[in-house]
Amino acid sequence: MIKALRGMKDLLFEDGNRFIYIIETATNIAKRYGYNYIETPILEETKLFKRSVGESSDIVGKEMYQFIDKGNNDVCMRPEGTAGVVRAFIQNRLDRRQSEKFKFYYYGAMFRYERPQKGRLREFHQFGCESFGEDLVYEDFTIIQMIGDIFKSLGIDYRLEINSLGCSKCMPPYRENLIKFLNGCRDELCEDCNRRIDTNPIRVLDCKNKNCQSLLINSPKLIDNLCSSCKSDFNRLKELLSSADIDYSVNSNLVRGLDYYNKTAFEFISNSIGSQSAIAGGGRYDKLVEFLGGKSTPAVGFALGIERIMELVKMPNRKREGYYMGVMDSSYIDRLFPLAHKKRETSSVTIEYRAKKLKAHLKGADKIDARYCVVIGEDEVKNGTVWVKDLEKREETILKIDEF
Ligand code: HAM
Repeated sequence: MIKALRGMKDLLFEDGNRFIYIIETATNIAKRYGYNYIETPILEETKLFKRSVGESSDIVGKEMYQFIDKGNNDVCMRPEGTAGVVRAFIQNRLDRRQSEKFKFYYYGAMFRYERPQKGRLREFHQFGCESFGEDLVYEDFTIIQMIGDIFKSLGIDYRLEINSLGCSKCMPPYRENLIKFLNGCRDELCEDCNRRIDTNPIRVLDCKNKNCQSLLINSPKLIDNLCSSCKSDFNRLKELLSSADIDYSVNSNLVRGLDYYNKTAFEFISNSIGSQSAIAGGGRYDKLVEFLGGKSTPAVGFALGIERIMELVKMPNRKREGYYMGVMDSSYIDRLFPLAHKKRETSSVTIEYRAKKLKAHLKGADKIDARYCVVIGEDEVKNGTVWVKDLEKREETILKIDEF
């Protein structure tokens, strides 16, 4: 038997319903916040991800689905959505329209060659939003509020962690300071951390190793070393969250696994799904558009992990919906098609093509949670009627075709 690849899943029945429900809920809310749909290719040039996500990140370093295509191009299946959206933003010259704001939402498959475990897949799906052209911290707040709305609407509890990663003014001196501190405890830090001190020292703060964590308690903290502009933005963000009754905690070690962030970084975490607990993450990336060759444009965004949210979502009670239609003799079937076609203008309709007894039709209607079971038998053909049972109210009626 040919099976799906390790770390990749089929989503069907209840899983399929959950998946689509999450996308629809998030889409409705994103539209209310002014976002428009964007679709970008799954396959992009490898250098797009190397430049944006960062050469030293785990994603680029070890997890890319990268290959040489038949035209000898070095390409990669997207590990995340932001890089492609930024590429499209520049390619479509939206960076030239500096006085305008652009807000995009997307959803789709992302690919990371990670070690699969609960909540960690090699093909997974994100719903994400990217907002371009707004440098005021109000946009950071608004995006966090929107994610809160999405989780509330899905009935999901979360913890919000925020941090500020500073800017090109305050980050470099902090980085130097941090390197000094880390060099002082190199021998005690794990192998990964030792490598990161040289490639991306900020990521050391994010190490999950208990011993490293205890050493890092005394490390210099970026939030204590922010420049005045970053500090006032971060304070303003905290004020706005508090006045909107959005609980948060500041995690000064929250650095995110992608290199493009500056200033606001945040993660939404669930306590109910085990170790892979981040259900959404994002932040500001004011330098990325320029770094990829566009005109400098501030930006902020997030993505949520659909499979992780599927574990948590409370689906509304499934309601009986639509029509099931059947006949008691196969020669009556032609009568159903025009009826079904008319009803399909507003409702869902399933036709059972095979003739069956009434009891079997009622069973079939029940199985697919239809609201109405519609059957044509001998009497109905004679009288130009249909037999209809409302399976919710448990009421039966006979209606003239026109009335139906
Ligand atoms: P990220 O934190 O790498 O951010 O991913 C966002 C979410 O995708 C995570 O919080 C998690 O729920 C889900 N996720 C990540 N990896 C996996 C996996 N292997 N299996 C299942 N779910 C996973 C980004 O990707 C950024 N592009 C977010 C962003 C948008 N920042 C600014 N704009």
